[in-house]
Amino acid sequence: MKTAVLGFGTVGAGIYEMLSQAKGLEQGPVLVRPGKDDAPFKKTSIEAVLSEPGVEAVAEAMGGIEPAFSYAMAAIKAGKHFVTSNKALVAAHGIELSAAAREMGVGFLFSAACGGGVPFLHNLSIAVESDDIVSLGGILNGTTNYMLDAMQRRALSYGEALKDAQKLGYAEADPSADVSGLDALRKIVLGSAVAYGILPTEGLYNEGIEHFTDEDVKRIQARGLTCRLVAKCAAVPGGKVYAYVEPVLLKASAAECSVLDNYNLARYEGKCSGPMVFIGQGAGRWPTASAVLRDLDCLLKGRLYMLASDCREGSADNEACRHSYYVRLPGSFTGCFEVKSYSESDGVAELITKPMSVKSMHELATRLRAEGADIFFAELEG
Ligand code: HSE
Repeated sequence: MKTAVLGFGTVGAGIYEMLSQAKGLEQGPVLVRPGKDDAPFKKTSIEAVLSEPGVEAVAEAMGGIEPAFSYAMAAIKAGKHFVTSNKALVAAHGIELSAAAREMGVGFLFSAACGGGVPFLHNLSIAVESDDIVSLGGILNGTTNYMLDAMQRRALSYGEALKDAQKLGYAEADPSADVSGLDALRKIVLGSAVAYGILPTEGLYNEGIEHFTDEDVKRIQARGLTCRLVAKCAAVPGGKVYAYVEPVLLKASAAECSVLDNYNLARYEGKCSGPMVFIGQGAGRWPTASAVLRDLDCLLKGRLYMLASDCREGSADNEACRHSYYVRLPGSFTGCFEVKSYSESDGVAELITKPMSVKSMHELATRLRAEGADIFFAELEG
């Protein structure tokens, strides 16, 4: 199957190279930016790519929503299978793309959009055919896991850790989506669409690691805890899901604590299967390209879709999910919390809250930050 590639960056170039050796697949043209067409296989217009004789599938690795969405629609309407590693695109337009692909009788797969090389969505989409999914989530962003691990295990500063993650090709072109938790949120939204047929577009919350400092590392290590950025999702009554991303403080025995560098840990719990855990590289050229190649192989074998035909957009209900939080903030701002325990030193307070909803915690932090408070908060598991 001759496959065109859109984008020739870290992932696109990896896909192109892997296509030369993959059984049943063949290198097609590659879409590059104007001025970058320094070889005959590189084209600068989507029309030139789609009109090349014999192209049956298009693999997109450009990132961003536009022009990726227009190109995806053009490819599908031209009767090409469409495979992508672009979570922003699928989180924003997955339902539309899936419907268009079904109408044209071509495939639409995106397992590389969540978890890099980790075969999470792929297995989840198979599991939902025979089991009910109780919950799903995990460490879904390689950049922030790399940074958190470097800060806590190797005592790197936040800035040094981010620079390294960028150099290694893990971070997005604009890393703010990584560090804010938005990238992981987009991925859990895709998991929800696959697991529950609901792609939530509102009521979502993401807290990233931007407020986690070297001093916080020392404070949580003094408590014997480790910080990881974790996404969580489950169905709740009323045809909704909860879906959010936030830092979580874990005891050393938690599986997430042994997930180092750019690795991801993705899990789901099936009603019959019980817990399933997948660990692997969640970012980088070869892991992500390998997931795209796996999707292309699925197309060859006739497995065309990950989203059910009745998958719909919906809202998240993060009021439904409650737990205690660790909060570090200026002593003068602690009055808004119901606390289980409290300590203060040099004007900096650390408190453990009584159980409160995810929605209340995220909204309270937004309000207090608007009033000038510097806050770090993290879920306390168990
Ligand atoms: N920037 C993303 C990450 C790339 O760090 O996980 C893979 O989706």
